[in-house]
Amino acid sequence: MIQLIFIYPDGQEHEAYAQNGQTLLSAAQEAGVAGFVAECGGNCTCATCHCYIQAEHAQELFEPSEDEQAMLGFTAEPREQHSRLACQVMVEYFMDGMRVYMPERQI
Ligand code: FES
Repeated sequence: MIQLIFIYPDGQEHEAYAQNGQTLLSAAQEAGVAGFVAECGGNCTCATCHCYIQAEHAQELFEPSEDEQAMLGFTAEPREQHSRLACQVMVEYFMDGMRVYMPERQI
């Protein structure tokens, strides 16, 4: 299992465990992480699964697709350098221990 640590805006941490190849969104939902709305159900058409990836890991992730890039323009909280849509990030072994920061709001 791959450990992920979701950090809420108030600094509280919520641990989750993912399988290799599972989406970040799915892992968060299974672990009961609060804060993702995911209106479109993971289809990259709502931008309500926005999160900020820990800088050290963000560089290792594959580049966002054109669709993800486009949707990142519609997040409720400002897009930052390491912004991603959790439904588009596949968890892999090298992400073990990765910290994922939640935005204040998704809508
Ligand atoms: S769940 Fe809608 S864009 Fe990710």
